[in-house]
Amino acid sequence: MERINIYEGDNVISHILVEDGIQSLEASLEQYAHVYAVMDNNVAMTSAVAAEVADMLNRRGVPGMLLDVSEKTKCMDTVMDICGWLLDSGADRDALVLAIGGGITSDMVGFAASIYKRGVRFAYVPTTLLAQVDAAIGGKTGINFEGYKNMLGTIRQPEFTYICPQFLESLPMEDFQAGAAEMLKTFIIEDNGEYEAAMTLLKGLTADFIASCEGAATLSYNEERWPEVISARISEMTPLIAAAAKVKAGVVSRDQFENGERRKLNLGHTFGHAIESLAHKHHNDIDHGHAVALGMVYAAKLSEKLGLAEEGFAAKIENDLDSCLLLIISPYGINDLSGAMAKDKKAEDGKVHFILPCAVGNVIVRDLTVEEVVALLK
Ligand code: GLY
Repeated sequence: MERINIYEGDNVISHILVEDGIQSLEASLEQYAHVYAVMDNNVAMTSAVAAEVADMLNRRGVPGMLLDVSEKTKCMDTVMDICGWLLDSGADRDALVLAIGGGITSDMVGFAASIYKRGVRFAYVPTTLLAQVDAAIGGKTGINFEGYKNMLGTIRQPEFTYICPQFLESLPMEDFQAGAAEMLKTFIIEDNGEYEAAMTLLKGLTADFIASCEGAATLSYNEERWPEVISARISEMTPLIAAAAKVKAGVVSRDQFENGERRKLNLGHTFGHAIESLAHKHHNDIDHGHAVALGMVYAAKLSEKLGLAEEGFAAKIENDLDSCLLLIISPYGINDLSGAMAKDKKAEDGKVHFILPCAVGNVIVRDLTVEEVVALLK
C-alpha cells in the first residue's frame, strides 16, 4: 500500500511498509531463508491479526518464541533468554529475527538481535500505535538497567517495519492514547495539515466513545466498548499512521545517531519522564501517553515564557489534548519535577536539551538548566 524508505546518505538502510492487513508480510519474508519469530505473549492471546500471523509463520515452519512483556521484564535476563533460544534453535549469522509486539518487544528483540553473534538481521511487526508511529522506526533498541529506562541499547536499523493498522482493533484504550500522544507529538514537530486532521479524528473517536458509554456511571468503567469504537475508524487512522511514520523516517534519515535534529522526537518527554518516574515512586503510576501529553503542555508553556511561541499557544495545545481525553490534572508542580529532570539521561554539562514548540510544525532544541526552567515556569 505504501513504502517509506530510511536512508543513510543515498543508501536505503531500512524501510517501512504500511499495509491493509497482514497478507503481504509473507512476501516480505520470502527473501530470508532462516526466520525466527518472537511474539509478545499477550498479543498472541488477544489479537485476531496476531493469530493470522502465527498461522502463516507455522505454515512456513518458522520457529517461534513467546515473551512475557513489561517494563519489568525489559531487562538483560530476557535478552539472554532470547539469545539462548536463538542459539538452541540453531540461528546462524544469516538469521532474520522477527519481533511481533509493541515497543518493549521491538526494543528487546532488536537489542538481542544486534548483539547475538555480533549482530544478525531483524524486522518488526509493531502491534501498538506507539510502536507503529515511533518505537519500531529508527533503529533504537534497548533495555532498562539499574532503574533507568533504556539505559543499555544500540542504534541498528531493522530490515523492515511492517505496519498493519488492524492490530489496533484489539489495543486497549490506554495503549491507544499513548500512541495518540506520540502521533500528535510527531505532527507538532513537522506538519503538513496532519495535526488538525489527527485532532478531528481523535475528537471523533472521543465522541463515539462517549456515545457508546451512554448510561454508564463513568467513562473508565466502559473501556470494553473501546475496541468497537476504534475498529470502525481504522481506515481513517491509516493515512495518519503513514504520515507520522514518514515524518519519523525523514528525521532518522537526516540524523540517525541523534546528534541534533533527532532530539526533537523527545518533545514532551523530559517533563513526561519526570512525571512518570515521580508517579511510579509514589505508587500512583501515570501511563506514558498522559505523561507525554502533560509534558507537551509544559514544553509549550516554556516556549511562551521564552517568547518563542505566541501567547495562547500553550492553551491551544492544552485544549486540544483535553478534547480527546489525553490530558489529566498534573499531581505535580514544576518544583516537584526538577529533581527527576536533572537526572535525565540526556543531560550534558548540567544542561538538558529542552524541545520547545514555537507553533504546530515548528520546534527548536534549546539547552537550559533545570533551575532556569523552574524559574520560568514557577
Ligand atoms: N523515540 C525517539 C527516537 O526514536 O528517537
